[in-house]
Amino acid sequence: MSLLTRRRLLRRAALSATAAGAARTGLAGATAAGIAASTVALGGCDSPPERTTDPEPDSGLRFPDGFAWGAATSAYQIEGAAKEDGRGESVWDTFSHTPGRTRNGDTGDVAADHYHRYAQDLDLMRDLGLRSYRFSISWPRIQADGSGRPNQRGLDFYRRLMDGLHERGIAPMATLFHWDLPQALQDAGGWENRDTAERFAEYADMVFRALGDQVPVWLTINEPKTVVQNGYIWGHHAPGIRDEDAAYLVAHHLQLGHGLAVQALRASGGTGRIGPALNLHPCYPADDSAESAAATRLYDGYENRLYLDSIFKGAYPQDVLDDLGPASRMARGVRDGDLKIISSPVDLLAVQYYTPIYVTADGGTVRKWPTSEAEWQQIYPEGMYDILTRVTRDYGRVPITITENGLPCPDVPGADGNVDDTGRVTFLRDHFAAAHRAIGDGVPLESYHVWSLLDNFEWAEGYEQRWGLVYVDYASQRRVLKRSAHWYRDVIRRNGL
Ligand code: FCB
Repeated sequence: MSLLTRRRLLRRAALSATAAGAARTGLAGATAAGIAASTVALGGCDSPPERTTDPEPDSGLRFPDGFAWGAATSAYQIEGAAKEDGRGESVWDTFSHTPGRTRNGDTGDVAADHYHRYAQDLDLMRDLGLRSYRFSISWPRIQADGSGRPNQRGLDFYRRLMDGLHERGIAPMATLFHWDLPQALQDAGGWENRDTAERFAEYADMVFRALGDQVPVWLTINEPKTVVQNGYIWGHHAPGIRDEDAAYLVAHHLQLGHGLAVQALRASGGTGRIGPALNLHPCYPADDSAESAAATRLYDGYENRLYLDSIFKGAYPQDVLDDLGPASRMARGVRDGDLKIISSPVDLLAVQYYTPIYVTADGGTVRKWPTSEAEWQQIYPEGMYDILTRVTRDYGRVPITITENGLPCPDVPGADGNVDDTGRVTFLRDHFAAAHRAIGDGVPLESYHVWSLLDNFEWAEGYEQRWGLVYVDYASQRRVLKRSAHWYRDVIRRNGL
């Protein structure tokens, strides 16, 4: 398939995947026959609320001793305090303040006000019994314009956060980059500019030296694929560019930044472990034809192998390179030695699983399962099992952490003030069970972080989608544990279902 053909097909896929402005589709496209009983009950998350928060019966299913249950967030989505303590602007400040870019014009200026309320949020985590908290460090808080000396007030915030985690017996897991690139670096070309990878490694080195004693696990770059696709192909995420040729050069530079950061950690003498955070999508043919199988293979190359092969095998997948062609900016941008940097040995792989993809003979996609409120997300817990076992089979027994899995629900407090998100409980139970099966079949999975701890700024969707275990009333910033949070506390206590 030529790049041009693929570009057309990707555009089509984008239409079905685009979050911003897309019509809600509920169960559209689901084949009744194929839907598992539990996901039918889920019904896109709006099952009738049940008031009880009594513990569910114990199914006896247990995770390995020491399994770390956690929750995840990211800086721009929860912190707010956009102009405080020397924080500079990021591409998401620019993007969200540009009219028409986010739903209702929402921005992360205040978000869940976590920058001011972090102590209260830490108490919530302790009350839930979390063992691990995955969050991100805001690059523009550390370097307002992406270069130069670190901003001590920014580092101090994360130092306070980590002290608070340790005091409560929760292990910090810090992501270095969750999409909030300093705007000054974007003005200099952003991730299209190879120099941004070097700047990223410099920033990472500063953070390692300042906070390295506090962090047992580092994640380099969150979902490079989402920056590539949403930020540079479809343009509905910052920086809002629609240029596929640029997008894959960006894919290369993001991965170069990842490899350089891994090397920087080793050079700093840091004892923490480090790895990439990849959103992986199991790809399945939509039908039995040979054409669909071939299209699925290439699709898988763009979705998964483009990021896995480079890091774990030191080579980009040949089918994707062939498809992009030798004249592509990416092909021309790869220099001798780059893949060696990108494949610097990592200590673990962070997997983020949300949805499967079903690929048709012409390279398009179809829906097969009910979707959540995020119409790009089909609810298919088996996909969790498939992607975990596949990674272990194809890339070896590298330790795995799940750093994101969850769904948005139409959460509204009832008359009694409770939020009965039974759909989220069902979703998580089914995905936990799938992960448990994967462990039984040899996957070295060590921890699981639900996305998200708190309702937050969901990028182009603004505040409309609620992904949290904890409800946030944005007007008062009051936090309410949803039913799923109470349920999760029981899961953690039992270390199982
Ligand atoms: C992931 C992002 C995370 C959040 C979830 C719903 O792609 O990493 O920030 O938006 O999706």
